[in-house]
Amino acid sequence: MEFKILQKPTKKHQIVIIDDTALLNQVPDISADETTFATASFTADQSLVTINRYTHYIFIYLLKAKKTDWQTSEAIRKTGADLTAACNKYKIDEITITNCSSHDSVAILCAEGMALANYQFLKYRTEAAKITNTLKRICFAKDTASAKEVAQLTATIEAIYLARTMVNEPLNFMSAEQLAHEIADMGKEAGFKVTILNKAKIEKEKMGGLLAVNRGSVQPPTFTVMEYEPKKAINKQPIVLVGKGVVYDTGGLSLKPTPNSMDRMKSDMSGAALVAGAMYAIAKMQLPLHVVALAPATDNRPGEEAYTPGDVITMMSGATVEVLNTDAEGRMILADALHYAKRYKPELVIDFATLTGAASVAVGEYGIVCMGTAEDDTKQAFNESGFRQYERLVEYPLWDEYGELIKSDIADLKNVGGPSGGAITAGKFLQHFTDYPWMHFDIAGVSFATSKKGYTPIGGTGYGMRMLIDFLSNYGKA
Ligand code: BES
Ligand code: ZN
Ligand code: ZN
Repeated sequence: MEFKILQKPTKKHQIVIIDDTALLNQVPDISADETTFATASFTADQSLVTINRYTHYIFIYLLKAKKTDWQTSEAIRKTGADLTAACNKYKIDEITITNCSSHDSVAILCAEGMALANYQFLKYRTEAAKITNTLKRICFAKDTASAKEVAQLTATIEAIYLARTMVNEPLNFMSAEQLAHEIADMGKEAGFKVTILNKAKIEKEKMGGLLAVNRGSVQPPTFTVMEYEPKKAINKQPIVLVGKGVVYDTGGLSLKPTPNSMDRMKSDMSGAALVAGAMYAIAKMQLPLHVVALAPATDNRPGEEAYTPGDVITMMSGATVEVLNTDAEGRMILADALHYAKRYKPELVIDFATLTGAASVAVGEYGIVCMGTAEDDTKQAFNESGFRQYERLVEYPLWDEYGELIKSDIADLKNVGGPSGGAITAGKFLQHFTDYPWMHFDIAGVSFATSKKGYTPIGGTGYGMRMLIDFLSNYGKA
């Protein structure tokens, strides 16, 4: 999607946002009949009115404030999705938004919802040209949005599109090596450094967890390191992002039951896609932050050499893990990445992972389960970003008792904790490999959509990206 700020009024397709029908006179050349029609059309659940001027359409959006700002913002994004549907129905390629309401940032939020809804993944459709959305460009009327806001929106939408596409790609394209190459391309385009550790380097680093999960695979693992270090970073020590990059999760020898439970397992690298997308946005926005991101990647398969329930694995940190379920593979590869992060002496580490069915069962597709050892003000800032972006967080406790559940009889840890508290015991396992302020986001419930909802299309969602970018954009600003 392209965004543009216009300097002159337009006579082409447009969206006029008002928050009072008295503002209908702001609609260019509105007639008395149109005013009567529009006024009568707005009802409790009808906030959009379409005027067909034959040479162009005018959509009038009557904005009604909700109880809170974050609810209002979400209503605007959702209306954006409706507007995208209308634009594509009427074969509109460019439309201009004018904000006549008294609310700030409305046009940006509307454009955000529009752009998020306009995403398509058509690479494998032979009739792609026929079904491609017509909408290509959203313009902002003069004084409706600032250049900075538009640049941020552009970077965020691109990052989400990239992450969604990475998730939508199946394993027969998106191997661990391909994932690393995609990230390298993103680094080149946005301006961040990418180093790919191949299997030999991963062996040299003794990443026992990643190598164990990769043993049943026919393709090598990768470990991708991204770094963005601007000259004037406001953080003394880097922030490290970590994303689970399981490019396909069969469960390994602890094979997942088919069908259903494997249907969406190409999305098990959503965490890696999210952190790579975030790096792209950070670099494009030139945020004054030193950020590193790590993406351990492999598929998880029951090949001949596959790691086996009962195996004891020595992790990169030296800790030993008794593997009781090879389907709990995410924590095995993340543990090595979290240990690797220690070399940066980071001031904060943030991981994203489609880690547990338990997180998905707990909050469904409506939020992210999070936990961590970061300071309360950091958690508060994340929570606020979550509400602002409507990618909400629910914090779970990391009480010591949950740590007892992952003690092994023969090794330091075991990789499963039993039937209860599954999202937390997974978090406790990860915590073992951290020695810095850390937050863990379990995005299992939100990273993939099986039906279209509002501005979220079917497939990879990029959920969490706006929350993370919002958090980083506000980082260090008290
Ligand atoms: N990738 C899955 C978690 C998942 C489940 C993501 C559903 C998205 C949707 C993860 O690797 C896994 O299999 N977790 C197991 C852990 C269990 C064996 C302790 C789970 O949650 O069932
Ligand atoms: Zn698994
Ligand atoms: Zn998994």
